[in-house]
Amino acid sequence: MPTIRVQIRAPEIEAKRISEVLERAFEDEGNPVTVYETKADGSEWAAEILLFDMAAEEAADCVRDRVGSDAFAAPVEAEELPEENWVEKSLEGLKPVRAGRFFVHGSHDRDKRPANALAIEVEAALAFGTGHHGTTAGCLMELDRLLDRRSYSRVLDLGTGTGVLGIGIAMKTRRPVIATDIDPIATETAAENSRKNGVGALVTCFTAAGVDDRRFADYGPFDLVVANILAKPLVRMAAPVSRRMRREATLVLSGLRIEDGPRIISAYGMQGFRLVRRRAIEGWLTLVLTRGRIGA
Ligand SMILES: C[S@@+](CC[C@H](N)C(=O)[O-])C[C@H]1O[C@@H](n2cnc3c(N)ncnc32)[C@H](O)[C@@H]1O
Repeated sequence: MPTIRVQIRAPEIEAKRISEVLERAFEDEGNPVTVYETKADGSEWAAEILLFDMAAEEAADCVRDRVGSDAFAAPVEAEELPEENWVEKSLEGLKPVRAGRFFVHGSHDRDKRPANALAIEVEAALAFGTGHHGTTAGCLMELDRLLDRRSYSRVLDLGTGTGVLGIGIAMKTRRPVIATDIDPIATETAAENSRKNGVGALVTCFTAAGVDDRRFADYGPFDLVVANILAKPLVRMAAPVSRRMRREATLVLSGLRIEDGPRIISAYGMQGFRLVRRRAIEGWLTLVLTRGRIGA
């Protein structure tokens, strides 16, 4: 599967704007978008997106087509990357992340675990969730806070990726968690990470798109659901996810840009949920909503 890097070089502000345009344009597919300095003095930056399974020229055209009226003046350059594990490569050397009582780290940073932390070891893998992204960190912080305040008996981590959130919940509560993902590589990774982190017996992983699978009925109804997906699928899943939840329940939603907040609040508001907290990290929004008599 050829990986094509499409890069647009521009001054910092423009490059950051372009990266946001790219993220929005490829929101449904979730292609990785990054923005970084290309010159040490900060005079040039690049916004970059990875596309798969197409030729370089086609990838450049695809980017130009998708950005439509948001087209940018800077030239679009595309090149095929040599066969490598680009997800792993781009995550190499990441530093540990502290989010509430959680400390997410790779095996190379095991010796840095603070004594009082709940340390989650996650390697850069073909699944999302090393704790570095604002959405994962936001969820971990809100989960840490919520789990200090009350106990939950049926918990679902929907779109588990590496399993980082489900593992964190299981570590903190020592209770069962269901962790699911549309991507079988993610669920395999999450199951393996759960075992490595000593919560394999508590975290049940399975592959499913959304929550239609009948196993959700067996394990639910849930009183806590965390879903770090994207705004569009979360809006689409508002009714089915809510149906899998108890009347008194808490939802932690992320994967949202700041501007997505109102449509998410409105979609879940129609299912009886109200917003109790919001946290923004680097432009990414995490929302906590509750239904019934549960407070923040
Ligand atoms: C942004 S990652 C979040 C990973 C991890 N939970 C975290 O917080 O870092 C989103 C995950 O949701 C999964 N996903 C996307 N759409 C989904 C759907 N309809 N049903 C279940 N999982 C989905 C993706 O495969 C991906 O692993």
